[in-house]
Amino acid sequence: MQVVKYMFQPHGDDRGQLVALEEFRDIPFKIKRVYYMYDTSEGVVRGHHAHKSLEQILICIHGSCKIKLDNGIEKKIVPLEKPYEGLYVSNNMWREMYDFSPDAVLMVLASELYDESDYIRDYDEFIKFVKEGN
Ligand code: TYD
Repeated sequence: MQVVKYMFQPHGDDRGQLVALEEFRDIPFKIKRVYYMYDTSEGVVRGHHAHKSLEQILICIHGSCKIKLDNGIEKKIVPLEKPYEGLYVSNNMWREMYDFSPDAVLMVLASELYDESDYIRDYDEFIKFVKEGN
């Protein structure tokens, strides 16, 4: 499994840093939705799902966390700890987010609006979905 990480360009000067993200330029899809997680309780594992068609970029814009990716064959753990790096998460990818630092803000850029019917929340169903070639 190839882990696709984007390193965004920080526009730094003596005032500080700024990162700008534009669809199709910095982000490989049209950004239809943005959401973020913060105040995550210690020891919490979020996610536990895959998407049938949604694509996402995950950016830990403050603090740190870890992302476990699982394509049904291989698993990879990706630490996110820089506000200028983004992890691309394709469709058909089981993900879990954990090890959140108390100050972590995990922002997600998503290619589609929220749609519960796009979720696969059962791991066995995910494996079946992937093995059947969708
Ligand atoms: P949930 O899917 O449990 O988050 P995670 O994948 O991080 O474990 O979502 C938590 C709640 O937020 C749930 O009630 C659905 C709601 N939600 C929205 O309303 N819109 C969204 O875009 C997302 C991602 C979640």
